Amino acid sequence: MTTTTELSFIHRFKPATEPGKPPLLLLHGTGGNEDDLLALGQMLSPGSAQLSPRGKVLEGGMPRFFRRLREGVFDEEDVRRRAHELADFIAHARESYNFAAPVAVGFSNGANIAAAVLQLRPEALAGAALLRAMVPLQDPPAADLTGKPALIISGAMDPIVPEENARRLASLLTGAGATVQHHVLPTGHGLSQTDVALTKTWIGQL
Ligand code: MLT
Repeated sequence: MTTTTELSFIHRFKPATEPGKPPLLLLHGTGGNEDDLLALGQMLSPGSAQLSPRGKVLEGGMPRFFRRLREGVFDEEDVRRRAHELADFIAHARESYNFAAPVAVGFSNGANIAAAVLQLRPEALAGAALLRAMVPLQDPPAADLTGKPALIISGAMDPIVPEENARRLASLLTGAGATVQHHVLPTGHGLSQTDVALTKTWIGQL
């Protein structure tokens, strides 16, 4: 496991221990950090390389990947800027550590920035598992996501992400050509064992 501040995000990198496993880009939720999703990543795809950055935006001391004006209302100029910054970081990390385009596994705010990276810099990711994601950009550019795999898992009782919003994200990504699987679970914003099982199966089929 490498911890470094040399690249533009504080992050952890764990090299692959099994060839052929897709590298994972782990993106934490609001108030998380680069350590949060390492165990989840290991559960989802043992042996995969893991790159896990810490969001640079602080909201009351809590790391995030972009600014929001209030819950569910995003500063879209910042979303765009930060998505490009994250895509640049992924490219630099790939050069430094030598791994293929990663599959993002993002939770909440991390899922939202992953969706924005897919829409703005599709080449940065091989696919994305978006756990409790919502639409990050009201007016996204026309991205070509042909064949790009995306998994969206929403909670029917999520107080932060209305189901309609998650469905809109699924249809935006499908409209751009992505191969989208969308599951709505009878749960809230927190992750459940079913999220882990569905995501593990989805990654296993990539
Ligand atoms: C966001 O701000 O990205 C979403 O509201 C999810 C969250 O972080 O609470």
